[in-house]
Amino acid sequence: MADQIDLFSAAGVEATPPPADFDPAKIPTSAKVPIPSGTYESLDPLAAHCKSCQRCELAETRTHVVVSRGSRTAPIMIIGEGPGQQEDEQGLPFVGRSGQLLEKILTSVRLDSEKDTYICNIVKCRPPGNRNPLAAEVNACRPYILEQIRLVDPKIILLTGATAVKGIMPSEKRGITKIRGTWIEWEGRQCMPILHPAYLLRNPSRDPGKPKWLMWQDIQAVKAKLDEIRQAA
Ligand code: URA
Repeated sequence: MADQIDLFSAAGVEATPPPADFDPAKIPTSAKVPIPSGTYESLDPLAAHCKSCQRCELAETRTHVVVSRGSRTAPIMIIGEGPGQQEDEQGLPFVGRSGQLLEKILTSVRLDSEKDTYICNIVKCRPPGNRNPLAAEVNACRPYILEQIRLVDPKIILLTGATAVKGIMPSEKRGITKIRGTWIEWEGRQCMPILHPAYLLRNPSRDPGKPKWLMWQDIQAVKAKLDEIRQAA
């Protein structure tokens, strides 16, 4: 008689253990070295690894690795695409023109970026000339953002623009204009894709239906969800 599958065995339920030759000290050296979930006890060793990371070729052209800003216990995580010139120079995410607009958007619903949000990016090093990050770069950096999400444990994740959506939900096929403003449950978390602030800078009209107007609807929905979560807590 063929062996029955044991439905009650723990095998296949537990997290896959890292390979026998797994050495956390080697993580920054190559994208071939995996970074399993649970590798980092806190955000400090994660940031230290990121700062010496050589997992993709963006390491060769960066000035600073841009890990995060804001609160490590924030209820809202905001994930952008990747650092631009200002961010690369200062080592902080969203501090250039897009960041200034993001601040205004948050302030409009009385959210404080330093207290209520943790801000980071899909890739932590600036793609030269602000090009879109390549798939290999996103994949090399992905374990870091997954660990940031696990450690910050946000209630709400805002994904700014198509690259952020793709980076977190690679199987999502719908375009950003279709899914912006909608709640998507991912890994038990409430995520909302929103338009990228840089897109709003290129489309300054506030008329109904235009990007700025859409953002105003979306950020109000985010604030309402946060209020709801806080009231239920
Ligand atoms: N755009 C992003 O997506 N991230 C930044 O940090 C800055 C601009």
